[in-house]
Amino acid sequence: MSSMWGNKIKISLFGESHGAGIGVVMDGLPSGELIDLDRADIHMKRRSPGFQPGATSRREGDSVRVLSGIYNGKTTGTPLCAVIENTDTRSGDYSKTALLPRPGHADLTGMARYEGSNDPRGGGHFSGRLTAPLTFAGAVAMQILERRGIIVRAHIFSIGTLEDTPYDPMKLPEDCSERSMPVLSEGQALKMRELIETLRNDRDSIGGVVECMVIGFPAGLGRPIFDNIESRIASILFGIPAVKGVEFGRGFKVAQVRGSQNNDSPFMTEEGIRLRSNHAGGVEGGISNGMPILLRCAFKPTPSIGKPQHTVNLETMSDDTVEITGRHDSCIVPRAVPVVEAAVAVALLDILEEG
Ligand SMILES: Cc1cc2nc3c(=O)[nH]c(=O)nc-3n(C[C@H](O)[C@H](O)[C@H](O)COP(=O)(O)O)c2cc1C
Repeated sequence: MSSMWGNKIKISLFGESHGAGIGVVMDGLPSGELIDLDRADIHMKRRSPGFQPGATSRREGDSVRVLSGIYNGKTTGTPLCAVIENTDTRSGDYSKTALLPRPGHADLTGMARYEGSNDPRGGGHFSGRLTAPLTFAGAVAMQILERRGIIVRAHIFSIGTLEDTPYDPMKLPEDCSERSMPVLSEGQALKMRELIETLRNDRDSIGGVVECMVIGFPAGLGRPIFDNIESRIASILFGIPAVKGVEFGRGFKVAQVRGSQNNDSPFMTEEGIRLRSNHAGGVEGGISNGMPILLRCAFKPTPSIGKPQHTVNLETMSDDTVEITGRHDSCIVPRAVPVVEAAVAVALLDILEEG
């Protein structure tokens, strides 16, 4: 099923951008896990518009109502259902897109797939808004992982061609989650803000890359071939709208170096076998090797832009132009950082629980 994910920890996302609400059902959670909903709320705030530069002016509180699965502050082990009401919808903004499909969005493909029966308002079920319940599921998973010594962190790796300081693949990265531009280099944050502002004034948009690192994930988990750690993490990351690429460790750059430069060679320590480098990004043969898991996730520029664009008119069945006037992120990337952390946390909890 397209909006369900997971083997042991199963999540199911539901709702539409401009319907009554959106939410998630999480099944298979271990029982007796303390969940601090205030901490989950802080994670949600990092995704919600208003916190970051370039975000849509749509103001959603994204406050989560847990209907089931948590009792006396702990998971019951039965399905956890969390609902987020849609409070700031302006469907009028989208009346045009039903007839003038937005280039780069899912208006045309959604129509082709559901033969016009899908809810087109604000992108319906295809909306970036569906990342809110995914972010909540991840906030729950992160608290369970933390109790097992596993930390998930992410930052903006790049916006356009502007790059932040990359994570050191061997070390726990600095926590920049409280910054509205979650980057390590404050100087680059300023330039990124300016770039996003320029694009907004130009009624255009820009993409970028989120880098994510996981520390403390034990060696020897995962599976070879199809159900491997890389494919599992990539499959949930590709469930985030606007993701167009995922790479692990050195990623595509492995194609430019020699084996002697790329192999992570082991050495003996009193605590056991360690690796001298981490070009693989913590996964070999689909199985964790105990090094930090390191990945990057590329986001395309926001498709809805104010600049006039060529499209087709579905009423007159002729070529036309569209100027999108709704409220949109001129850069998705700052809001996507906690979403990437969340998706990775859900995937790793699933793999961990599978054993
Ligand atoms: C956090 C987040 C916010 C987004 N905000 C917008 C937006 O304001 N406007 C828009 O056109 N697309 C936005 N998107 C992207 C679209 O949802 C996405 O491009 C669209 O559904 C088509 O899917 P695809 O890009 O994966 O092919 C957002 C995505 C994310 C992850």
